[in-house]
Amino acid sequence: MLKRAALVVGVLLAVTAGAKPVVVGGTLASATEAPWAIALNNTQSADSSGRYCGAALVRPNKIITAAHCMDEDIATYYAVQGRANLADESVGQASAISKVWIDPRYNTKDNRYDFAVLTLAKPFTGVPVLPLETRARADRNGVVPTVYGWGDTEGTGLDDTLQKAAVPDLGDKTCLAVKSYFSNGYAAATNVCAGYLNGGIDACQGDSGGPLVLNGRLLGVVSWGQGCAQAGKPGVYAETAAVAKALAPQLAR
Ligand code: ARG
Repeated sequence: MLKRAALVVGVLLAVTAGAKPVVVGGTLASATEAPWAIALNNTQSADSSGRYCGAALVRPNKIITAAHCMDEDIATYYAVQGRANLADESVGQASAISKVWIDPRYNTKDNRYDFAVLTLAKPFTGVPVLPLETRARADRNGVVPTVYGWGDTEGTGLDDTLQKAAVPDLGDKTCLAVKSYFSNGYAAATNVCAGYLNGGIDACQGDSGGPLVLNGRLLGVVSWGQGCAQAGKPGVYAETAAVAKALAPQLAR
C-alpha cells in the first residue's frame, strides 16, 4: 500500500509518503450514517484485516474507487459494506468483484482521472446509494465536505475502523500554488483540493478510492497527497463532476 501510494505521487514525493495514519485526526463513523461507504479489501493486503482501499456504493451492484487501487488481480479484491470495524465479521456483507473498468484517461504521470468502476458479483441490495455530484461548480473554496475511510490514522484513532473528517475545500488555486502538487499533475478541472493548511487532519494511506461527500453527493474520491496531514500539503481528490458523463454508461449495466 505504501509503495503503491508513493508510486502514485511520483518519485519526488515518494520520499515523504511515509507510514502515516488513515483518516488522520478524524472521529469514528458508524456504518448506519455512511451505509454507502465501502471497504475495498484485498487478500494480498499487508494488513490482516484485508484493508486495502476505500470505495463508494453508487448503484446496488456498482462501486466507484480510485484507478490507482486496481493493480492487483481482480480475484483478490472483495467489497465490504456495513462493517465499521473490519475485524467484526459478524456484521455487514461482502462481495467479490466481477468486472473492473478503469478510466482510460488515467495515467501515473499526472494522476488525473483516478477513477475505477467495479461491478459487485453479489449486489448490496436495499442499501442507500450515494449519488454522483455532476456540477463542476460544487467544487469551490469554502464548502466543507467530509471524507470517510478505514485507512491509517497515524495514531490518532482506531485502526481498521471507519473514520470520518470534515475537510474544507481549499479551492484549486491552493493546490496549484504548492510547487510539488503542480509538478505532480494537480488539475483544476479534474481535482479537488481539501484539508487544512496547518495540517493535522487528512485522508491517508488506505483511504484511497474512498468517498469525499458534500450535501449527500460524491464530490470526489481520495487520490493522493504528500505524506498525510502535513502542513501546507492538503489532500488531493479526483473530482467526480469531471467524469460523471464518462462514467454513466459504466453504471448502467
Ligand atoms: N494514495 C493513498 C492510498 O493509496 C491515499 C493518499 C491520500 N493522501 C492524503 N494525504 N490525502 O491510500
